[in-house]
Amino acid sequence: MPAEEASSEKERRDVAAQLRIDVLTLFPELFSGFLEASLLGKARARGLMDVALHDFRAFATDRHRTVDDKPYGGGPGMVLMCEPILACLDSLGLPPGTPRPAGTRLVMLTPQGDRLEQRRVQELARAERLVLLCGRYEGFDERLRDILEPEEISVGDYILTGGEPAAMILIDAVSRLVPGVLGHDASAEFESHDPQTKWLDYPVYTRPPEVRGHKVPEVLFSGDHEAVARWRLEQAKRRTRERRPDLLAATEGSRQGEGASEREEERLVAERIRRMAEVSRQQRRGRHPNKED
Ligand SMILES: C[S@@+](CC[C@H](N)C(=O)[O-])C[C@H]1O[C@@H](n2cnc3c(N)ncnc32)[C@H](O)[C@@H]1O
Repeated sequence: MPAEEASSEKERRDVAAQLRIDVLTLFPELFSGFLEASLLGKARARGLMDVALHDFRAFATDRHRTVDDKPYGGGPGMVLMCEPILACLDSLGLPPGTPRPAGTRLVMLTPQGDRLEQRRVQELARAERLVLLCGRYEGFDERLRDILEPEEISVGDYILTGGEPAAMILIDAVSRLVPGVLGHDASAEFESHDPQTKWLDYPVYTRPPEVRGHKVPEVLFSGDHEAVARWRLEQAKRRTRERRPDLLAATEGSRQGEGASEREEERLVAERIRRMAEVSRQQRRGRHPNKED
């Protein structure tokens, strides 16, 4: 084995995956390109994350491998049966009805769940193991909720054909918070929907300095890291006010009293400016790569 391959093989064995994700799905093939490409593919190859796909049809007991049936009481569509999913969880060492190990979170993807937000993504990224249930057809037999008491998560107020795209959204959002997955962990620090500020991201520009008469703002050439950070935060706040005033109202409303809210925001802004300027300085000195993947 060439030396380079041997060392990456050794790295793979030495690093215990920080996050294991089990996906229960009837369509594992939908995940193939998604899991192999880009950051996620690299994170898995480096052993930072482990994603296992489980087709719960394999746990159906009849000749036809049935996983769904007509709804009691009539009505359109088919309902996912309990037993194949319960047996699949059993096989993963998660017997339904018994307490799950600390650090393991069981998530049911459903349009009836809590809408996924960055704060929840941060919490999920701290888990040791995530188990994701992907529904299909008319959804899950209600008794799966009673038996498993899963966290129920929705990726938005619209209906997908199946839970797989929702699981991919969740895996993607969580994976970039697993330490080491982003080339530059600070990339995840300054982004839209930060649970602390709730601000949208600031505008970004790259070469050339002028495109069809549209110029890059002067301050970005100043070399003054504090001035750049201050400008970026002003922009972030302005565009949030213009595009998503609901986000600002949510954070401002959750702070106690006007004066306290202003002081809290000043503190937050000062801290952000300091941190953004520090990251830019480090980058100048070549300590951080710019590209995420
Ligand atoms: C067609 S949907 C079933 C919708 C269900 N009849 C309802 O109205 O609540 C089939 C599966 O897709 C997944 N799904 C659909 N929309 C979703 C969303 N917005 N977020 C998460 N999962 C979703 C769920 O796993 C669901 O069981």
